[in-house]
Amino acid sequence: MILHICTCKGLIDVPASPDFGSDVTVEVSECLCSKEGRAAVEASLGDDRRLVLAGCTPRILERFFGDIDSEMVNIREQGVFLGKGWDGIETMIRGGIERARAAEPVEKRERKISKKSVLVIGAGVSGLESARWLGEMGHDVVLVEEDPFVGGTVAKLDRLYPEGTPNSHTLYPLVNQVAGNDHIKVMTNTRVENVAGTVGDYRVTLRTSPRGVIECVQCGKCVPVCPESPVDHGVPRKAIFAQETYPDEYAIDFEACTRCGKCVEICPAKIDLDEPAREEEIAVGAIVVATGLRNFPIANLSAYGGGKIDRVMRAIDYERQIAAGIIAPEKVLVVHCAGSRDDNYLPYCSRVCCLIGMKEAKLTKDRFPNAEVYLSYIDMRCYGQFEYLYRTLRDQAGVVFLEGRPSEIFERGDRVVVRTEDIQSGEYLELEVDYVVLATGFEPDRETLAMLGLPSDLDFPYGYTGTTLSPDSNPQGIFLAGAAAFPRGVLESVESAREAAAGAHAVLSKDVVTFRTPVPRIEAEVCASLHCRLCVPTCPYGALSVVDEEMTVDETLCMGCGICSVTCPAGANTLEAWEDEAILAEVEAVADEGSIVAFLCKWSAYNAADRAGYDRLDMPSELRVIRVPCTGRVDATMVAGAFARGARGVLIGGCYPDSCHYRHGNTRAVSRVKLLQRFLSELGVDESRLRLEWFGSNEGQKLVSVVREMSGELASVGV
Ligand code: FES
Repeated sequence: MILHICTCKGLIDVPASPDFGSDVTVEVSECLCSKEGRAAVEASLGDDRRLVLAGCTPRILERFFGDIDSEMVNIREQGVFLGKGWDGIETMIRGGIERARAAEPVEKRERKISKKSVLVIGAGVSGLESARWLGEMGHDVVLVEEDPFVGGTVAKLDRLYPEGTPNSHTLYPLVNQVAGNDHIKVMTNTRVENVAGTVGDYRVTLRTSPRGVIECVQCGKCVPVCPESPVDHGVPRKAIFAQETYPDEYAIDFEACTRCGKCVEICPAKIDLDEPAREEEIAVGAIVVATGLRNFPIANLSAYGGGKIDRVMRAIDYERQIAAGIIAPEKVLVVHCAGSRDDNYLPYCSRVCCLIGMKEAKLTKDRFPNAEVYLSYIDMRCYGQFEYLYRTLRDQAGVVFLEGRPSEIFERGDRVVVRTEDIQSGEYLELEVDYVVLATGFEPDRETLAMLGLPSDLDFPYGYTGTTLSPDSNPQGIFLAGAAAFPRGVLESVESAREAAAGAHAVLSKDVVTFRTPVPRIEAEVCASLHCRLCVPTCPYGALSVVDEEMTVDETLCMGCGICSVTCPAGANTLEAWEDEAILAEVEAVADEGSIVAFLCKWSAYNAADRAGYDRLDMPSELRVIRVPCTGRVDATMVAGAFARGARGVLIGGCYPDSCHYRHGNTRAVSRVKLLQRFLSELGVDESRLRLEWFGSNEGQKLVSVVREMSGELASVGV
């Protein structure tokens, strides 16, 4: 074992020849983080001996040594800064040494990036923008789109908020840059059937539906002879049709086509109504998902007349009917939050629909200045720069804003009657309008997210909607762009598409990605003896699964929380570097009679202890800190181990409710601690000796107060 002790530029008084046993070689540096210090550590690598680094907080040490297997002992922030002399520091170092003895080394893992191309799923603005950036960086891109033409939702729209700019401003140059880039292969009418493999080597099954039009000279003779007129987002077209994006050729909508053959007869090029579907497998190193959102079905909103009254329509249909000259409204009501923030439909806010509703009001006024436009809302959410859209409509365009949800919408002759309140004026109104526009919310593309195994909450992928996404995760090669992650408008989608492209580029530009995130090791025989599978649903990332009857860990999905290890009743599952034996060995080395053993989550409470050090707070000397990845990693044996060593109290400190870095580790800790407290009580032990508390990273003072109270110095904490 090699122990490097840092004096942190003379802040820590290290005796001349510190002795930690004959098998421990001690090297003292003035600054481990300096070039010389790092070289000294580097020089001690290369044999099988374990490494212990005693110096400043792991938050800093990991910056320089996160790549090597070592135990870190924080003798600065939680040692000398908290008033510990050499005796206290020596105990801390012994804890690190014992832990290092008991822990298994964590392997550095590698994933070869053997495939250098990238798949972009979805060719709306987000997918197009990601593909454009990746193509310009020189990567080979396969861009797949389910529809026969690229452009997604934006291609269907007439205008974009906030200014009401025609979609052509954004879309046409983007489409041309993608279609003109030789690195980008565009596959329309194509869907992803399956994705297997891992970062650097995904195998993707694609299915291309028949287009029907094999060769096309764009003469358009097929259109007038086609007898079918399906409605596409509110506007009728023929079953054979084209769109002003890409490719520049017609396509057949086989859901509407009756195969009458009239187009085949008149076409001077080639149409094949019996063209078969094709399936192929491609291999890529990374994937960008840009499949966007799904409109909440208007038919589900029958209470608003949705699906029952033709003049009650979705925003996109209304906009397209105005653009096509099908309708010319004189009096219209836009209903905001139609079905949103409502437990009967969508419980959440879709964020962009307020702006979409206001855009419909604006384009009505732009086209028909004398039209009366009403807008009913429960809250108006036009954030940042979009505020001016609301103010312009209200103060200059003469749009009437009514606060309240409509209570009734029904037909009277060829008009639509809306009964609603206006909280602002205190009046109950009955409006007779030509059209009602429902600004509905959006739903995630559940199918694609599930196929890719992306864990979700409210069905949105929570790696993107939570605040804890961080680079501590193992390498993944799947990136979400635009509204595939959560509701985003065009501006934000384009920005996020660039970020996704940058993420994919970072992976593809390497030959190998390496990582050292600890993952659970599973003893197959022990696991098989119980066969309980309890750990599978506890993993917040879906990293555990049963493959060929054997519990398997997907190392690229695991984030190293250790929640699953605690769940295993057979003891078959143990998290590398945070094994029970290693944590217990440290507890045994540092805990003594009257001590307060604190298992502190490295994301929150451990930083609060550092904060207490930076602020030189008067921390009771009884505190013994054990760093853990999450409160969800602390189990009964660790608590019992501390009490067995004579600890006066055991504190488990973690992130506040709902803010656990690993989603629900702290929730599991709550139930575990309650059980243990009941158990202690039954043994006649005061249950308050075991305590679970939440800490923010800056709550050093709270930590001091809790430890003081537990050590008997204070009667009550009151924080
Ligand atoms: Fe802090 Fe789970 S990560 S309690």
